[in-house]
Amino acid sequence: MSRGATSRHWWDGAVIYHCYPRSFADTTGDGIGDLEGITRHLDHLAGSEHALGVDAIWLSPVYPHGGVDGGYDIIDHAAIAPEFGSLLDLDRLVAAAHRRKLRVLMDLVVGHVSDQHPWFREAQTSRTAERRDWFIWADPRPGGEVPNNWVAVFGGPAWTFDPATGQYYHHTYYPEQPDLNWRNPEVQAAVADILRFWLDRGVDGFRVDAAQNLIKDAALRDNPPSRRREMRFREDPGGLSRRWNSHLPGARRVLQGFRRVVDEYPDRFLLGEIYAPPRRLATYLAAGEAAGLHASLDMELGMSDWSVREFRDAIARAERHLQPPRYPTWNLSNHDVPRHPSRWGPDRSRLAALVLLSLRGSICLYYGEEIGMTDHPAVPTPVQDRWGRDPERTPMQWTADPLGGFTTGAPWLPLNDPERTNVAAQRADSGSLLALYRALIDLRRRTPALRDGSLELMGQLPPQVLGFVRSAGSDRILVLANMGADEAAIGQLAGRATVLAATGERSGTVTLARIRLAPLEGLVLRSG
Ligand code: NOJ
Repeated sequence: MSRGATSRHWWDGAVIYHCYPRSFADTTGDGIGDLEGITRHLDHLAGSEHALGVDAIWLSPVYPHGGVDGGYDIIDHAAIAPEFGSLLDLDRLVAAAHRRKLRVLMDLVVGHVSDQHPWFREAQTSRTAERRDWFIWADPRPGGEVPNNWVAVFGGPAWTFDPATGQYYHHTYYPEQPDLNWRNPEVQAAVADILRFWLDRGVDGFRVDAAQNLIKDAALRDNPPSRRREMRFREDPGGLSRRWNSHLPGARRVLQGFRRVVDEYPDRFLLGEIYAPPRRLATYLAAGEAAGLHASLDMELGMSDWSVREFRDAIARAERHLQPPRYPTWNLSNHDVPRHPSRWGPDRSRLAALVLLSLRGSICLYYGEEIGMTDHPAVPTPVQDRWGRDPERTPMQWTADPLGGFTTGAPWLPLNDPERTNVAAQRADSGSLLALYRALIDLRRRTPALRDGSLELMGQLPPQVLGFVRSAGSDRILVLANMGADEAAIGQLAGRATVLAATGERSGTVTLARIRLAPLEGLVLRSG
């Protein structure tokens, strides 16, 4: 596959499409999306006239799972859950994607397994079980108390008592998700085999789940109270920091181990999921011999309020700490947080897309954001996800049919509003959000300054306007976004510019000194 003229790797500046397979397309009528459904809809992503034109697809887990954490509680890392299909379906999907020059990333969830995983089942049989040390066990404190004050991300103690063997096991997430002990070389070897299993099948890399949590303090020290800054990153439930169970230096060594395996194969990519500010992300990313991850998702923009100041700060921090060969991987939505049109308001989706797809680094889109899908306002019981993430996981809306073209059966989660928001209608409408995503992705692909160029935030703009310049060589691309509710005059700029992309109707050339941006208007301009 060809690389962009100035890209060092296919993933530099790439657009990655995050697919939640359970909700993408069902071909069997069981109401659950499957691999064949993804294969049949690849036209939407790449290699067709109406494709979005993304570079890669990341699949949330499709492995056999315990049904507790949306697929992130895995029972077998080297198999496909029957509801998603078979290994043959996966091979077919990878081959079909590659024919379209679309790369495929799998989700690597190896901080923990399901409590139904054979490794844990065996470890639970006795204190001397062969795989006992593959997990993190500790004796009760006097009085039967939990071993320390660590709190699970989903709430409650990060320890669960195992009555049969009289010890507690540690879990970062739900009690049904025991953490693996990454200090154990056998665990390292077993997971290296899992990586090779998928790499041998031709997958192009992995999104590494919760990468910062892979190593815990060997002495299991109590966590101190959190400092304010950490609060934003959901890592301190109960007001405690995660000083001794998150971001320990050993986590980087584990990732370096993954990297060594991935580097046995050409052109494979490791993308981390790390909730941390860019200063900290940088310590995980490729740099010389200590190379770990190639990139990590940067959640800061997605976690920002709709405010020029917050957007500027998030971008500025990434610029300060993630300069080449590092770069940010931006996303606004994912399967763990409310969709951004629901957080910021659907009328801001066009401008959000224009800003997102003009940023430096790689971009990760969440399925359905290209048509403006919002959270389901009232997902009925039975609740599928105990932590409340059902609203942002509802099925993809392909058509105006009440079942959205997603299934012919009973959907595992209700469709939200397919009659109002769907791919088919937006494909036929050149003014749709889908058309704007396509145009912005196409522009990014064709424009080295946008895909690989530097980024400089502009000062001296009206307070409701976000502006930055992307440059490569002599090419200068201006991105202006009026995030406010009032018209904004941009008097400060001189010269003329060509409109390359716009949230509204504007096209042709503009005189910069005379531009008045309408509320929520955004422009991508080539100056000079
Ligand atoms: C991160 C995943 O994105 C999330 O969905 C999951 O609940 C946790 N890891 C735990 O597996």
